[in-house]
Amino acid sequence: MKRIQFRLNTAHQDCDTLLIGVNNSGQLIGSDSTLNSNSELTSAVSTAIADKDLSTKVGSQIMLKNLAGFTRVWFVSLGETEKLSRKAFIETMKKTISGLLETGTNWLYHTLSIATQDSDAAWALYQNALMLQTAQYDYQHPSRGDFTANQNNLDKVTFVGEIENAEQIIGQAQSSAIGMSLTQDLANMPANFCTPTYLASTAEDLGQQYGFTVNILERAQMEELGMGSFLSVAQGSDQPPKLICLEYKGANANDAPIALVGKGVTFDTGGISLKPGASMDEMKYDMGGAATVLGVFKALGELKPEINVVGIIPSTENMPAGNAVKPGDVVTSMSGQTIEILNTDAEGRLILCDALTYAQKTYQPKQVIDIATLTGACIIALGHHVSGIMGNNQTLVDDLLSSGNDTYDRFWQLPLGEEWDEQLKSNFADMANIGGRPGGTITAAQFLARFTKEVEWAHLDIAGTAWTSGTNKGATGRPVPALVDFLKHKVG
Ligand code: BES
Ligand code: MN
Ligand code: ZN
Repeated sequence: MKRIQFRLNTAHQDCDTLLIGVNNSGQLIGSDSTLNSNSELTSAVSTAIADKDLSTKVGSQIMLKNLAGFTRVWFVSLGETEKLSRKAFIETMKKTISGLLETGTNWLYHTLSIATQDSDAAWALYQNALMLQTAQYDYQHPSRGDFTANQNNLDKVTFVGEIENAEQIIGQAQSSAIGMSLTQDLANMPANFCTPTYLASTAEDLGQQYGFTVNILERAQMEELGMGSFLSVAQGSDQPPKLICLEYKGANANDAPIALVGKGVTFDTGGISLKPGASMDEMKYDMGGAATVLGVFKALGELKPEINVVGIIPSTENMPAGNAVKPGDVVTSMSGQTIEILNTDAEGRLILCDALTYAQKTYQPKQVIDIATLTGACIIALGHHVSGIMGNNQTLVDDLLSSGNDTYDRFWQLPLGEEWDEQLKSNFADMANIGGRPGGTITAAQFLARFTKEVEWAHLDIAGTAWTSGTNKGATGRPVPALVDFLKHKVG
């Protein structure tokens, strides 16, 4: 993916394209006040409005050539900015960027990092940098070589405005976008390419590139550790399972790390509790949590914040087979707790519980966050706009909620409690792996809570947010931006 070169408050002499806003009364709005009152620009926009080539309705836009020293000037109507929502700002800017990328624009002078209804110029700057960099994303299939469909002429963007910590904001946005592109590539990649072995080699490549310690545990080691729950899911697959461990050390060695645990089911057929056929192809993204962890690590490698982070990825396929785990089978997890597997399609929690135990025993993390495409119920409850969040420590949950809100990569909290925990009762083992249909997202988290009693823990259910269905189906790269923001706040 091409990296945009971002500049801050440099002169616009060499920029070929100006991006400027128009308000509801037809006045120019942008962070460069000289341009807002430039007579060539003001008369051009008045004419465009009079001629009905531009409306003052939010989202209307027009490009005019050779004005005020620019080859192109892109006017975008933003209406009353005090009434412009964050959603409307993002949508309008996305439309603007896709238009700009179809022109010869090479160096953009961007004056639209401005305050809107409920956010400030710093927020707009972050979103602008993130959107411009993510617009460069294009899925790279392994056998496609260096083919790039997404060719455009944009190389440089100069942002204008007096914004505190602007350099850091741009750096965070760009690193997040670069991390997201890895997350998207992995989740988009078909499961015959993106196997547990492929995820492991991706982690090793990242380790090489950024200096992370990477350790891959094989089936035999997992057997020795007693990961009977994880291995029961893996037993029906011909692909060898992997437990992928990455360590990012940006702080003092004796600083306890934050652990990120990502569900890495590279294909979820449901197993013997087979899923219906419709849209089953989408279950290649059931490693979205794993892809998020790897994407966050890539962003960490770029940003180099002074914190310690470990990433733990249990990875396997979930397949029906003659030797696959069956409903009614009882397995013993690494924690010693036994599990009656009543539905083999509730496999995510079975691999995560052993990874959570391993993360705590091996790294003594101060906080653990797991990220998983865990339940279809989460899509029913929350739709596709926010990820579900649950946890045993409200401060941790609040920190994540606030990073989600700031990056607009949002979470919504669901409750946990003994009442839901009771739904996991089994008369053949310490617990069942399902709790029935009511509150399916909560009972899945309640299952994980039984393995995280001794640590501050939060669970992110990203089933609805990691993927967009439909004709433009594909991975979103979420929740990399929120997690990068959360980790950045841990510095110091
Ligand atoms: N990977 C699925 C959850 C999922 C469904 C993610 C749709 C994204 C889109 C998970 O392994 C699963 O199958 N969960 C079951 C749990 C049930 C059997 C208790 C589900 O949601 O139906
Ligand atoms: Mn499943
Ligand atoms: Zn699954």
